[in-house]
Amino acid sequence: MRSGEKNIYIIIAVLVIGMISYRGYQEITDPDPGIPYYTTASPELKQTADKIYKDNKCSDCHSLWMIRNMMASVPAPPLDGIGDIRNEQWFYDYLSSENPQTILPTRLNATYKMPSYAHLPEQDRRTLAAYLASLKVEDWYLEETKKREYEKLTGKKYPQ
Ligand code: HEC
Repeated sequence: MRSGEKNIYIIIAVLVIGMISYRGYQEITDPDPGIPYYTTASPELKQTADKIYKDNKCSDCHSLWMIRNMMASVPAPPLDGIGDIRNEQWFYDYLSSENPQTILPTRLNATYKMPSYAHLPEQDRRTLAAYLASLKVEDWYLEETKKREYEKLTGKKYPQ
C-alpha cells in the first residue's frame, strides 16, 4: 500500500469513529423524549374504560393513544392529555348531559357533534369520567407547545 493511500484510510477511519461516538454522545445528552402522554389509571380502570370506550365507538370521532377510526373524518378534539385541562366532575357532567353542547358549544352539524351519553348506566359514565381525568401530558410538552405557539404568533424568541 502506498503511503498516500494509507493516510486516506486513516483519515476515513478517524472520521467514522468520530461520527459514531458523536452520535452516541448525542443520544446520552439529548435522549428522544418519547411520547408525552400518559395515564395515572390503574390497569383495572384502564381495562374497564377501554371496553366502554370501544363499545360506544368514541374512536369513530376521537383519537386517543394514536388510535382512531381511519374511515371517519369528524374533526373532534383528540383526547390525549385531556385530564390536564378538565376534571373528573366536568367529564361526568358532560357525558351525563342530555345536550352536551350546552356545556361545550359546537360549530359542527348534528351528525358530527358530541352525542349525549346520558343513556349509559351511571357506573359506565363514572368509569369513563375517571379514566378521562387520568389522561395526562408531561409538563415539558406543554411548555414546548407554549413556546412554539408564542414564537409562531409573535415571531420572537420565547423569554426564558
Ligand atoms: C359523532 C362523533 C363523536 C363521538 C362518537 C364521540 N364524540 Fe366526544 N366529541 C365530539 C366532538 C365533535 C366534540 C367537540 C364538541 C362538539 O363539537 O360537540 C367532542 C367533545 C368531547 C369531549 C370534550 C373535549 C374537550 O375539548 O374538552 C370529551 C371529553 C369527549 N368528547 C369524550 C367522548 C367519549 C368518551 C366518547 C365515547 C363515549 C365520545 N366523546 C364520542 C364528537 C364525538
